[in-house]
Amino acid sequence: MNTPWAIDVKGLTKKFGSTTVVNGIELQVKQGGVFGFLGPNGSGKTTTIRMLCGLLTPDGGSGQCLGLDVITQSREIKKQCGYMTQKFSLYDDLNIEENLDFVAMIYGMDKRKERVQKALQDLGLYERRKQLVETLSGGWKQRVALSCAILHQPKLLLLDEPTAGVDPKARREFWDHVHDLSQQGITTLVATHYMDEAERCTDLAYIAYGNILARGTPQHIVQEAKLYTWQLTGKNIQNYISVLRQLPTLDQVGSFGDALHVSGYEHDKMAETLQPFATAHELQLTEIPPRLEDVFIALIKVEPKEAVHG
Ligand SMILES: Nc1ncnc2c1ncn2[C@@H]1O[C@H](COP(=O)(O)OP(=O)(O)OP(=O)(O)O)[C@@H](O)[C@H]1O
Ligand SMILES: [Mg+2]
Repeated sequence: MNTPWAIDVKGLTKKFGSTTVVNGIELQVKQGGVFGFLGPNGSGKTTTIRMLCGLLTPDGGSGQCLGLDVITQSREIKKQCGYMTQKFSLYDDLNIEENLDFVAMIYGMDKRKERVQKALQDLGLYERRKQLVETLSGGWKQRVALSCAILHQPKLLLLDEPTAGVDPKARREFWDHVHDLSQQGITTLVATHYMDEAERCTDLAYIAYGNILARGTPQHIVQEAKLYTWQLTGKNIQNYISVLRQLPTLDQVGSFGDALHVSGYEHDKMAETLQPFATAHELQLTEIPPRLEDVFIALIKVEPKEAVHG
């Protein structure tokens, strides 16, 4: 493949009835990268993933996924993708080993038994292999789902909110696996709502109302947002949230532990508002670098662009 991109599409569009849910997006994902896909509920992440792996036919757009045409070669693309759906899609009434064996059978794999045994070992599932999936905790189900998604050795892994409802230890182990796979050259595109996960990605895209509003490395997105953030601390700090929200140029006010973060776009005007406020109420005011979360919350407030409907 003569390109650094595992995914390179433009104008990708999907309509359901008269509603455009993915509105001509452009997406480039580096081979071997871990690409994070963020955006509010209903913004078009799952729909995009399903178009990329050949499960849904785009209404418009062009490009390639794994060197194959996204419009005409969806069948071939499907074979080389591992897709972990938002709801894990396991068979509850089969045990772990049977779930893996079933996937191996669907893909018509050779050396089925051997591959399933190796997969059980690789993700630490061997001891529990006879346990029914319905009796597993969320973290174990997730591990089985990942194992199923990579069993046929895909080149591209599409993970749709893979760690929703999973505890921090299991989430960290999960991300270690994803980075191991990346080391082996496997590309991952992961839809997530978690900021700590976004920060683990090599590149990000932020989608809202079917439009990509920001893209790049996490650092680049923070820089490009041109957002300014101050931290306020002091006695009974939480009592000031509603009054701060009424003040001009302070677009976001939120609690972070025992501090408040205040963000906005007009640096000097914000300073003119905040400094006297802090002095009058004997609060400590410090300008801090905005966090990815501050930037995404600011992006969520962007109004829907024209022609998303109709
Ligand atoms: N098969 C479908 N038929 C009609 N509308 C659909 C269909 N699938 C998705 N939609 C709509 O398309 C929009 C985008 O949905 P999508 O599932 O892609 O969002 P998402 O970004 O994955 O959201 P979430 O973060 O909640 O998973 C939503 O308004 C959804 O209701
Ligand atoms: Mg989704």
